[in-house]
Amino acid sequence: MEFVSSWCNNGVLPPSYVHPSETRPGNLVVPPGTSIPVIDFAGHDRNQIIQKILKAGEEYGFFQVINHGVSETLMDDTMDVIKEFHAMSGMEKQRECSKDPNGSCKLYTSSLDYPAEDFHYWRDALIHPCNPAEECIKFWPEKPTRYREVIGAYSVEMRKLSSRILEIICEGLGLEKGYFSSDLSENPKIIINHYPVCPDPSLTLGLSKHKDPTVISLVLQGLIPGLQVLKDGQWISVQPHPHAFVVNIGYLLQIISNGKLNGAEHRVVTNRNAARTTITYFVFPTNESLIKPAKVLTNEQNPPLYKDCKFSDFFTAFLSRAVEPCT
Ligand code: OGA
Ligand code: NI
Repeated sequence: MEFVSSWCNNGVLPPSYVHPSETRPGNLVVPPGTSIPVIDFAGHDRNQIIQKILKAGEEYGFFQVINHGVSETLMDDTMDVIKEFHAMSGMEKQRECSKDPNGSCKLYTSSLDYPAEDFHYWRDALIHPCNPAEECIKFWPEKPTRYREVIGAYSVEMRKLSSRILEIICEGLGLEKGYFSSDLSENPKIIINHYPVCPDPSLTLGLSKHKDPTVISLVLQGLIPGLQVLKDGQWISVQPHPHAFVVNIGYLLQIISNGKLNGAEHRVVTNRNAARTTITYFVFPTNESLIKPAKVLTNEQNPPLYKDCKFSDFFTAFLSRAVEPCT
């Protein structure tokens, strides 16, 4: 198993990367004029922002935020560092990701279970925890030289921004204050995806259709398109918006909101002319966290749509590709 970035320059798409006609993107034409909502944190009062986020969470499960207060310099430095990381040789990346004997920092290609895959995905990835910082950072890569400094600062900002968004959602759903600033957001992870230039994007995928196994996820996608959201049976492209964050409702928040918010299905298509590197902050609970519909959102008319389940059990079911764990 070699990283796609190590051999993709030969210009050939190996047969194991060619997806069946039902799931391949085909001609990649996406309907014009469709896009996910863009929410301006500086342009509205708090009540308007609550309404807009709830509506986007119900209708799309996806939205972008602008004027979110995260420094553009830090966002640019982060993009530079993640591109530099994936530009290193396979051996060097492997060495930089093997510092924890428990393997908390994982470098892989395609998906976490490459040998079990019917078809491979055109991506390389790095995932590692980022909280508590002092326990995690010592196992992160030390190359590129600014990795720990920049990604450390970025993680702090993502924790703040995700808390802010979750407080808004908490209020919008009518949950008790601080509902999400608990074990539900204690174990966040950073994932850095790299989708190299691809000889034939119509036949393959960077990531197949999935819901994130998270509460919410915050994506910084740079200027190269590739992320698509399934809305009413149609794939719509998430248009790159300079210095915006793409936020998506994860499957855990779909459960907690008892189906009011939509853990939207999304996928990633590849690009013929430019490589695409993204960084996502996954809001994850602890393994012991109990995932269940919030009490105040259920009653006789609205019975719980999901069974209570421990996050570790949910995650096992998720990895074994159970379509809707906890139902
Ligand atoms: C993911 C994901 C989107 C992207 O890692 O779950 O959907 O554009 N990433 O890389
Ligand atoms: Ni995802």
